[in-house]
Amino acid sequence: MSALAFFDHLWQDYLRLCPQAAGIHTLFRHDNAVITNDHVALRTFRHHPISRQALEPLLLDLGYLRFEPYRFPDKHVEAWSYIHRQPEVPRVFFSELDINALSLANARRLRRLLDHLPESITHEHSVFWAGRLWPMPSWEDYRALQAESSYAAWLSAVGLHANHFTMAVHSLERPHTMEEVVARVQAAGFTFNDDGGLIKGSPSQLLEQASTLANRQHFTFAEGDEHEIPTCYYEFARRHPDARGLLYEGFVNESARHLFTSTDAREDETQ
Ligand code: NI
Repeated sequence: MSALAFFDHLWQDYLRLCPQAAGIHTLFRHDNAVITNDHVALRTFRHHPISRQALEPLLLDLGYLRFEPYRFPDKHVEAWSYIHRQPEVPRVFFSELDINALSLANARRLRRLLDHLPESITHEHSVFWAGRLWPMPSWEDYRALQAESSYAAWLSAVGLHANHFTMAVHSLERPHTMEEVVARVQAAGFTFNDDGGLIKGSPSQLLEQASTLANRQHFTFAEGDEHEIPTCYYEFARRHPDARGLLYEGFVNESARHLFTSTDAREDETQ
């Protein structure tokens, strides 16, 4: 599979969980012939056979190179970024939840689900949009996971998909600044994640980011009850050139920590 075909599949799958992304793109089409994707975020569990390590060869096969590791110890999440040999192909930010770092009860809840994983999935690029390859958790289990790790709850119910796509603000014809981009999207009625500030990072950190709050959809939980939960969100990134004049390629840890909360439940659900 070519990298472009890979992203096409990933995007079509993501739009079903994040219909707002299509609406946001239309806001920029009239003054931008092309909207460039800065990066795609993938999430998985550190559990055979879907661990980041097990799935990484599929990315390398598309022409990706490992770039930088990131750690989020308070979220029990580790990540790697990947860059492609062809600069027009988006970066990948691939994170992984360390199940063993969770409480025993929650680790056991996840293992009970993941025991159902088929062995044969790691040879197909389509695993990245395969969705939930394990049974749906019960609402009770989802809530128990959510109380400790939003990431665990989200991934257990939603499954393997692109978690977000990202507009490369630095590649837009116009507007140029994050403030203008955010204002345009807000004026159209989309809601942003303001955890850690509306715009995370700064020009001096060489990366500014902002994101919407995830779309929400009804899911049927294991006991047949339906609940509306957060699915996927859309992100904006503006990269700045470094001292050598090269566009910054990395991610800013503290900003990423806040961006993870874009798929958190609303406060009224966590009580
Ligand atoms: Ni991102």
